[in-house]
Amino acid sequence: MVADARHPSGVYTVCWEEDSEGSSVCVLDQSALPHQVLYLHLRHEEEVAEAIRSLKVRGAPLIGVTAAFGMALALTRLWQAGASTLTPARARSHLARVAELLRQARPTAVNLPWAVERMLRCADQALAAGRAPGELVALLQREAQAVADEDCAACLAMGRYGAELIPDQATLLTHCNAGALATAGLGTALAPMYVAHQQGKHLHIFVDETRPVLQGARLTAWELQQSGIPLTLITDNMAAHFMRHGGIQAVFVGADRVAANGDVANKIGTYGLAVLARAHDIPFYVVAPRSTIDLTLSSGEQIPIEQRDPSEVTSIGGSAIAPPGVYVANPAFDVTPHSHVTALITEAGVARAPYTQSLPALCAGYHHVGEVHVHGVGNHTGRC
Ligand code: MRU
Repeated sequence: MVADARHPSGVYTVCWEEDSEGSSVCVLDQSALPHQVLYLHLRHEEEVAEAIRSLKVRGAPLIGVTAAFGMALALTRLWQAGASTLTPARARSHLARVAELLRQARPTAVNLPWAVERMLRCADQALAAGRAPGELVALLQREAQAVADEDCAACLAMGRYGAELIPDQATLLTHCNAGALATAGLGTALAPMYVAHQQGKHLHIFVDETRPVLQGARLTAWELQQSGIPLTLITDNMAAHFMRHGGIQAVFVGADRVAANGDVANKIGTYGLAVLARAHDIPFYVVAPRSTIDLTLSSGEQIPIEQRDPSEVTSIGGSAIAPPGVYVANPAFDVTPHSHVTALITEAGVARAPYTQSLPALCAGYHHVGEVHVHGVGNHTGRC
């Protein structure tokens, strides 16, 4: 059976739009879910960075794709404001400034600098080849679409590899949102579930609510409901109980950055789940595209962990739940040691320990942050 690359809800997360007001990056506002399906037209690179910072657009692969469109938008905007004033030097320095703006938006997911650097390389190659600024604008739009299309294809491939690890009648547990909403395709951790479901397997998914920002309750519960896969929403502190009594066969999570030794940064609470999974002898699978693997970092110790605003912890839905002035810690991610990862499912295959050998082998020929990359500009159009 051929698995479908699109989520059953038909909802898309990001695309390029042209209308009477000019070009925009159109994004699904994830802060409005599950109450409202709302799209925003981002017309300036500052708006793209703000959407990423404020989690309107979130999930590692999706912030990479959105940043790529943001780079294309930044140059398109200058071109539309006055084509005659857009010299190659001005185009390059503007792109460098926008790259920095976008990189600063969130520090942990490596997909963001990966996508920004890919766009800069595309620009550098075009300028070195003597392309005119107008051609450069078109090339960057196509490169951003290629980043989106490749992410969509990667999701489907991860879904197919991961589905092989899911038996019929399985009960699985997931954390945060690593589904269609977090990517340009079917998702990462949820893609194997969607493919297994399409293959006719009967699944039941336990969804951690994922405090403090509730990506599990607001987003994963919503998108699984749309797909028809049965789910049970639990608070984070119930996971141990259900691992002991609920017959959970495996945990599937996504990743924001994977170090060369297989250590995995993902949403805060992931490490605790991995420890619980090991204590209950339950496989712990991480699903992530190669754009999330950072071979420049030897271990998870070096992964920058984003610290977010205390108000995310002291309030829920705008209502205060803690006394004013209380000291708060709010790391958005934690690092799960590679020793607790049963396997890492990528679009190029399934990596197992020792990760220092399996990850470079899977990534051979794939280009990471900081590497020299010669990428052909293909004919990528339309939504995946
Ligand atoms: O803060 P968020 O919502 O961007 O965090 C998202 C996660 O931690 C996801 O698990 C990860 O990005 C993988 S998404 C396919």
